[in-house]
Amino acid sequence: MSVFVKKSISSLLASSEEGGHTLKRTLGVWSLIALGIGAIIGAGLFVRTAAAAGGFAGPAVTISFVIAAVGCAFAGLCYAEFASIIPIAGSAYTYAYATMGEIVAWIIGWALILEYALGAATVSISWSEYANKLVGGKIPYEWCHSPMESAIMNGVHHHGIINIPALVILLLLSLLLVKGTQESAIVNGIIVFLKVAIVLVFIAIGWGFIKAANHTPYIIPANAPPATLPDGTQYSYLDFFHHGWGGILRGAGIVFFAFIGFDAVSTAAQEAKNPKKDMPIGILGSLAICTVLYILFSWVLTGVAPYQDFMHAGKEASVAYAISTYMAGYGWLATLVTVAILLGFSSVILVMLLGQSRVFYTMSTDGLLPKVFSDLHPKFKTPYKSNLILFVFVGLFAAFLPESVAGDLTSVGTLFAFVLVCIGVTILRYKDPNLPRPFKTPLVPVVPFLGAVICFAMIVSLPLPTLASAFGWMVIGLLIYLGYSKNNSKLGKMGDVLPRASDFEKK
Ligand code: ALA
Repeated sequence: MSVFVKKSISSLLASSEEGGHTLKRTLGVWSLIALGIGAIIGAGLFVRTAAAAGGFAGPAVTISFVIAAVGCAFAGLCYAEFASIIPIAGSAYTYAYATMGEIVAWIIGWALILEYALGAATVSISWSEYANKLVGGKIPYEWCHSPMESAIMNGVHHHGIINIPALVILLLLSLLLVKGTQESAIVNGIIVFLKVAIVLVFIAIGWGFIKAANHTPYIIPANAPPATLPDGTQYSYLDFFHHGWGGILRGAGIVFFAFIGFDAVSTAAQEAKNPKKDMPIGILGSLAICTVLYILFSWVLTGVAPYQDFMHAGKEASVAYAISTYMAGYGWLATLVTVAILLGFSSVILVMLLGQSRVFYTMSTDGLLPKVFSDLHPKFKTPYKSNLILFVFVGLFAAFLPESVAGDLTSVGTLFAFVLVCIGVTILRYKDPNLPRPFKTPLVPVVPFLGAVICFAMIVSLPLPTLASAFGWMVIGLLIYLGYSKNNSKLGKMGDVLPRASDFEKK
């Protein structure tokens, strides 16, 4: 059977409307936007903004946010078209299965593991940073850092061993998912409210503490003095991607992480009241609101603290650091911010773990992954085995990788999926021009083309070892596809009993 076998869109839609799915259509536009913001605002804003500013973009990290947002908006318009045609759980994986064939769907599904599983690992590592800050740094460095990290504290050299707090939060949330996947809309609503409120309060109060000197020069010059890293070594800004526009582009690749999650709105398509109209508004609306908040936030953060600080003392829990160090009299805000951020991170991790188990579930019911990923708990009706396997898998990354490595890999996987979604929309326009499209991406093929180009540029701006690891991951995925999934694919097996065009040609 061809590796390009496709699911038919009409049968996909029919199976979602028949029984089987008992999800209630309860989500309106505002709930969808809240769902998006719940998944979007997290470690990207509260951790990676400082990392991008400190090492690569300086105050011009605001421009990095604009570049990442434009790439996401173009890709988001393509997501919105797909989500309106195929309003079904499974996201980009399902879209690809219907438009570009099984092997591309597999590649996207495999890349989405980087997005969701590694994304969850990244945010849990950030959770660990802020949890340590909340308890006054009392967790020994060794037990809350990866073996790839080290630092000099009070003249003593410390090496990370394992990140235990990250494992603990992952375990708790995995167990919660085993018990019930329906994240309560009310809890999500409260967390979204808290997150947005904290961002707004930080912008409003921090604005008064901006020092013009911290914003000058706005773009890091090549001859910027080197920064000292936590392990005492010197960090130079000379490299192409460490200053100027190269630095801004790498900054975009890093803060791109902050936008990941808007596509999660598309996974709720079956719960939307009016998916064809509300999905595009939900996706693009949450993206627009976050973009404005991010630009203002990063302007204030880099105005309050000099960007070099984020390479050293302010490397971890950077927002709390900036408040307690530079905003005299607002110590209470640092604590409040830390608590809100911990809650916010928890909801992001939950959505990511949930998204991953849903993608695994769909891939397993399609026969591309073993059945264990779609076995449901007899009482809770959740894919509990998948959740527990996922905990071990995600836990390994969270326990032993630094935030920057896990985060960059997450960005590569997601950007790659975005590039394929942009291409997919264009292909479907030409192959099936008459398909009813309640929402149409404007200016095809220009918008998908620009979306693909900008996302690709962000991929290549990321560090070489990250790109090599992502490439290795994709090669492993292809080997698994050819060795297992292709032979077990339900669609593939069905295809084998159908007559093929070549059978007729021979006669
Ligand atoms: N966008 C999410 C975050 O920033 C993944 O944590």
